[in-house]
Amino acid sequence: MSRPHLAPAGPEAAPVLAELHSQAFDKAWSAQDISALIGGAGAYAVLAQDTAPLGMIMARVLFEEAEILTLAVAPSARRRGIGAALVVAAAGLARQGGAQALVLEVGEDNPAAIALYGACGFVRVGRRRNYYDRGGRQIDALLMRLDLNSERP
Ligand SMILES: CC(C)(COP(=O)(O)OP(=O)(O)OC[C@H]1O[C@@H](n2cnc3c(N)ncnc32)[C@H](O)[C@@H]1OP(=O)(O)O)[C@@H](O)C(=O)NCCC(=O)NCCS
Repeated sequence: MSRPHLAPAGPEAAPVLAELHSQAFDKAWSAQDISALIGGAGAYAVLAQDTAPLGMIMARVLFEEAEILTLAVAPSARRRGIGAALVVAAAGLARQGGAQALVLEVGEDNPAAIALYGACGFVRVGRRRNYYDRGGRQIDALLMRLDLNSERP
């Protein structure tokens, strides 16, 4: 298994990012949605690949705070550290963009992602009640935050 290569991805990578997103989420984002998001102010994406696309993260810097918009690792590539490497890359770019903190929302029913963010140094700072609709079932979102000044994941 070769070492994954991580690099920032522009709107031209939107179809690849959309394919990775669709493998990870029930409600897939279209390539057009992704292209428009990446083209927005402060937004960026990082793609992990070896001979094939393995994972992606999208985030956005808004003044002092950056937000992870989505994170997806291909099912066959999980538990190889790719998700954590993508979070580290996104945190580095957020710092470069002037952000002091990186925040995100994660479903309370997503133990894998909650564990990943915890392992990367994020702490829980809040809860949004009934934030996600999983086919009629309402799920709370946990708000998590990484202080980019004190943590270096
Ligand atoms: C969550 C997700 C991105 C994790 O990606 P990954 O590449 O498998 O994660 P990593 O290999 O970097 O894991 C790093 C650490 O996170 C934790 N972790 C990751 N997946 C886990 C799981 N299924 N169960 C428990 N802990 C997990 C572990 O502490 C892991 O370290 P370890 O493997 O040494 O024990 C991936 O499972 C995914 O794409 N899920 C679907 C989409 C999703 O939920 N995205 C996040 C939405 S907010």
